[in-house]
Amino acid sequence: MGTSTIHKPTFLILQMFISPLLILCDDTTLAKSLGQSSFPSNFLFGTASSAYQFEGAYLSDGKGLNNWDVFSHKPGNIIDGSNGDLAVDHYYRYMEDIELMGSLGVNSYRFSISWARILPAGRFGEVNLAGIDHYNKLIDVLLLKGIQPFVTLNHFDIPQELEDRFGGWLSPESQEEFLHFADICFKSFGDRVKYWATFNEPNLQVTSGYRSAAVDIFRSKYQKKQGGMIGIVLYAAWFEPISNSTADKSAAERAQSFLTNWILDPIILGRYPSEMNDILGSNLPEFSNKDKDKLKSGLDFIGINHYTSYYVQDCISSKCEPGPGISKTEGFYLQSSQRNGVPIGEYTDLDWLNVYPQGLEKTITYIKERYNNTPMFITENGYGEVYNPNSTIKDFLHDVRRVNYIAGYLNALSVAIRKGADVRGYFAWSLLDNFEWIFGYTVRFGLHHVDHATLKRTPKLSASWYKQFITKHKVVTLMPGPNQQKFQY
Ligand code: NOJ
Repeated sequence: MGTSTIHKPTFLILQMFISPLLILCDDTTLAKSLGQSSFPSNFLFGTASSAYQFEGAYLSDGKGLNNWDVFSHKPGNIIDGSNGDLAVDHYYRYMEDIELMGSLGVNSYRFSISWARILPAGRFGEVNLAGIDHYNKLIDVLLLKGIQPFVTLNHFDIPQELEDRFGGWLSPESQEEFLHFADICFKSFGDRVKYWATFNEPNLQVTSGYRSAAVDIFRSKYQKKQGGMIGIVLYAAWFEPISNSTADKSAAERAQSFLTNWILDPIILGRYPSEMNDILGSNLPEFSNKDKDKLKSGLDFIGINHYTSYYVQDCISSKCEPGPGISKTEGFYLQSSQRNGVPIGEYTDLDWLNVYPQGLEKTITYIKERYNNTPMFITENGYGEVYNPNSTIKDFLHDVRRVNYIAGYLNALSVAIRKGADVRGYFAWSLLDNFEWIFGYTVRFGLHHVDHATLKRTPKLSASWYKQFITKHKVVTLMPGPNQQKFQY
């Protein structure tokens, strides 16, 4: 993600003021156009979070240190000098937060499990029963409220012990570690959790196909008995060719391959994308027969984190300015949010995020066609605002631009569904303002405002809008009861 600069030409400011007004005059304008039948009856409407960004409870109840604890404590790493020690205190305030979810009317909650809370020292130590207990309570309360847990096993945080011992993900040893962690989670929570995502955005974070091995263990040991689905969550942007030239069109295709297809193709199609082979050829790792067997177990769903779109220019046939995408390992294309100075969609406070809802429809349709309409979930979509010392809480609560953004993207989603895409859920990022990684607390993505001094949660306009939207698109979901099993570790 880029830096959070603010750049807004006047005409766009006008546009930003006028279009929200159009929606708010009748805040159901878009919702009405979505049509009641667009979303299947058991569609999951939810909000999303992750452990490090939400929980806090730094070393409480036996939790071990993780990589983000250590990284954020090093001066200079987080732009506001903050860390996730407290975050939004979700570990202690989950009951209150589930109340907020209840009043939104969501029927699902995507959260991740803090690995270091379950296994403070990975396989080099014991299971932390207090950690298991915490997630048991969270899951049970969610289910009692009619909210399906949608659990990500790994959302960027890994026990520091594993970093120190062998360099974390850089070592193949992490595979066994992750399997051990995944196994414990399936065993402990799989009687009630029916949606599992292995990794969040591995395409932005890490690079090894072997991680689909957790799918294998879920299939062979748990799925028959427990049911449920397992998938992976990827960051997926849409890329528009900057011109109609064949070279730019191929560059846009290359950009898809170098961003998302290189993870999904091996898992679903059993090979790397041809665009990647053409450029990287022998530099690509070979799959062993064992790997190939594991990859065959595939995915039950594809999780899509989609926020924005870019223009793409070819850098093979012509020379490009320095910029994102231009190197060989990135695929020789130049990614930009603008064409001749005109943005692809309305600017936001974040320089990597422009509003281009049709990009979501195109992304879904592309994934649907490439992967034979594998079930999909939009696991994240949301609008970030930069904290500005001059803005008041009132400004943040009146988040018209976020309402417009979500309305536009839900509209695009409904179009994709109407055209036949098997999308089964949508999760707004995020339930609450939270810790936005290297941007600390300066960026706010929440449907609820969090006062970081008092931790008070206040619904924003977007929370009321989402609530109304969900009410209009009634959903019916069958829940398994919260009769948890007890295990020996
Ligand atoms: C994707 C990441 O999964 C999440 O952790 C992050 O906060 C949001 N994008 C917003 O940048």
